[in-house]
Amino acid sequence: MNKVSVKDLDVKGKRVFLRVDLNVTLNKHGEIIEENKIRSSLPTIQYLSEQGAIVIIASHLGRPKGQVVEELRLDPVAKKLAEMLGKPVYKTDKVVGEEPLKALEMLKGGDIVMLENIRFHPGETTNDPELAREFAMLADFYVNDAFGTCHRAHASTVGVAELLPSAAGLNMEREIMVMSKMLENPERPLVAILGGTKVVDKIELITHFMDVVDVLLIGGGMANTFLKAEGYQMGKSFVEEDKVEAARKILAMAKNKKANLVLPVDFIAASEASENSDQKVVRADSVPSEWMALDIGPETVNKFAEILETARTVIWNGPLGMSEIEDFAQGTMQTARFIADLEAVKVIGGGDVVAAVEKAGVADKMTHISTGGGAALEFWEGKELPALSVLPEKVSV
Ligand code: 3PG
Repeated sequence: MNKVSVKDLDVKGKRVFLRVDLNVTLNKHGEIIEENKIRSSLPTIQYLSEQGAIVIIASHLGRPKGQVVEELRLDPVAKKLAEMLGKPVYKTDKVVGEEPLKALEMLKGGDIVMLENIRFHPGETTNDPELAREFAMLADFYVNDAFGTCHRAHASTVGVAELLPSAAGLNMEREIMVMSKMLENPERPLVAILGGTKVVDKIELITHFMDVVDVLLIGGGMANTFLKAEGYQMGKSFVEEDKVEAARKILAMAKNKKANLVLPVDFIAASEASENSDQKVVRADSVPSEWMALDIGPETVNKFAEILETARTVIWNGPLGMSEIEDFAQGTMQTARFIADLEAVKVIGGGDVVAAVEKAGVADKMTHISTGGGAALEFWEGKELPALSVLPEKVSV
């Protein structure tokens, strides 16, 4: 894959519609708790601005379903971005129309403007041609730096790319390079850690990874569904009842292929999913009937660490417990700190894990922090990513 790069465009004095993924993780007070996506967008924004382009930043935040949702306005993100760039970032109140067009008239080469959350417009997620046309009218060039939304065929990721001369941004190029290398020719042993709540999101990846990775560690809520499939009673823990059969098939397949799939052996269980609830360490086969498994337990943390210690490449997506509640984020945080000190290629992705890694203060010890959660999963599964496919390949002469 050798896409036309932002560096191949002559952008001086031109308007560039730059799709970035600033869908940052917010806490319950609406504060940004994961800066990785903003940080990863800086090189392309800086490059375009230094080249004298007028940079029109477009991103989504959350899933507002085509309506204005006040808490999902991009103002705090624009403010943070301006701080990190050390440069003003103007922000429009509308996604398209007269207001952004007028704002653009006031700008000169090097200036940066951010459109309002593009998912406030109902045409974004339906890839409405009319919205794509309105986006295209704003600019001379289109650059996609949003690896995290490459699996979405939306107006700002596919529609507009079909209408303007297009290129990949610097973050996009780095993501593709690191991700491809890691799976095509990894240093082994390659250990993958998959967490998160739902098996359904990761069935295809787990099946695919069985043939690719040396060890697959499974944590988070989805481990409960696997353990239930093995016959364990999980009390009141989150279990996807309709996926227990699928989990059973995956386990049987792993056995057949002699794939090394490792499940938790103990948990931090609690009477309620809240801070300061009654909590205790329980073995996987002894979750009390009225309790919930909410984090991996100390023996599992150690077991995962022993395996990780041998790894030369580590891929991690999805938290190992209910990490949004501090009491149940410990397994994820301890694992993050352990991985940080390994002498291995360490690639992590997905908002919750990235937030935990940042909170643990070890983000700079990771080889690569992907801006992609779902997109990274689909990339690893070998699926076609529509927003990537639409970008032109370099023509070799
Ligand atoms: C992400 O956070 O994975 C991306 O921003 C995509 O978000 P989406 O799943 O809401 O499309």
